[in-house]
Amino acid sequence: MNGKRLTVNDYFHYKGGDLYCEGVRIEEIAKEIATPFYLYSQKSIIDNYKAFDEAFKEIDHLICYSYKANSNLSICKVLREEGSGADVVSGGELYKALKVGVEPKKIVFSGVGKTASEIKYALKEGILLLNVESIPELELTNKIAGKLKKKASLALRINPDINPNTHPHISTGLAKSKFGIEISGAKEAYKKAEELKNIETMGIHMHIGSQITELEPFVDSLEKIVELIKELEKEGIKLRYLDIGGGLGISYKKGEKAPTPKEFAERLLPLIKELKCKIILEPGRAIVGNAGILVTKVLYIKKTEEKNFVIVDAAMNDLIRPTLYNAYHEIISIKPITGHRSPITVDIVGPVCESGDYFAKNRELPELKFGDLLTILDAGAYGFSMSSNYNARPKVAEVLVEKDKYHIIKKREDYEDLVRGEELR
Ligand code: LLP
Repeated sequence: MNGKRLTVNDYFHYKGGDLYCEGVRIEEIAKEIATPFYLYSQKSIIDNYKAFDEAFKEIDHLICYSYKANSNLSICKVLREEGSGADVVSGGELYKALKVGVEPKKIVFSGVGKTASEIKYALKEGILLLNVESIPELELTNKIAGKLKKKASLALRINPDINPNTHPHISTGLAKSKFGIEISGAKEAYKKAEELKNIETMGIHMHIGSQITELEPFVDSLEKIVELIKELEKEGIKLRYLDIGGGLGISYKKGEKAPTPKEFAERLLPLIKELKCKIILEPGRAIVGNAGILVTKVLYIKKTEEKNFVIVDAAMNDLIRPTLYNAYHEIISIKPITGHRSPITVDIVGPVCESGDYFAKNRELPELKFGDLLTILDAGAYGFSMSSNYNARPKVAEVLVEKDKYHIIKKREDYEDLVRGEELR
């Protein structure tokens, strides 16, 4: 394998026996800043964004990258420079979007539990749409807008009651889920919004879940929503925006197929082309998921009668997806492991004091030894953004590769960071 170029994907590849991200040898970065760290390919992020943009080019559309997937400022800035807006779910994400210069008229704000101060913040900034998820939220928004002497530009998030066949924790479009206004009550909700003085009902929003790898759930939901738009039109309620949310999955396992943005668009366009609405898309995972990896080092090999454990320096607090969703992430070595090391079946685990702290179970890998560098693939989305300081572990660094340069876009935390804001009584 040495000397040959083995493509992991187009942005991470082996060359001369080493794993590269674009033009940078990953081991170089590990030597410089130590492990663990997240590493992103800027070109991959841009290409993923462009693929979406290109796929929907025949209609008026706006991509609002979903900040919850990864809201590192540099990544958000790269996307803003490509023309992306922002889908935010908290005052903090709104702050970040504004900080990187996203125009307020390219920002949409979802979430079932917006606080009064978040609503006020969004109204003051004049964002494009507050995606309102309940009647009480609608009433509160009307009240706050009245106090600010503004009209609140909003969409109602409608729950189409569709099963997206994804992990239950990330499925949001079923009638039993907490999200949105149920479709059976949608017309009433729009009528109510029309009556409220300080509300301008601009659109309709749906988002049915995440990591969806079939197109049918999107099609089925959209059919219901389009039908509703037509019925509302008959009642004199004309909507200017149709926000179809995010949710398009990516492939995490070799051989697993996920639809491309092009395939996604080809199925959806016939349903929405004729509408007089601007289409908003909120992809997160499909933009950054496969653009990032987590680099970690082997600390110990521990063989018991039952298992072979590979203990690494990253843990569940750095990447919680395996623990939380039993998610599968491909794990590869930074050097292609050849010849003398025969494959063994291992659990790859972190140092945190919980049995749920693992990255892989019963994975067949070439025998590893202390100091080997491993990378956990497809960790760009919901990796760092879901990380925590559990076990008082400083959050890891984030690095962005741009061709043959790399930038540290988030410093590794130190012990001082861990106690910032705490007071001794
Ligand atoms: N729009 C809304 C309203 C959302 O709630 C979400 C994700 C998105 C857009 C972006 O969805 P995406 O394109 O990334 O699928 N932590 C989980 C995923 C939670 C997704 C929550 N909502 C995971 O690690 O798989």
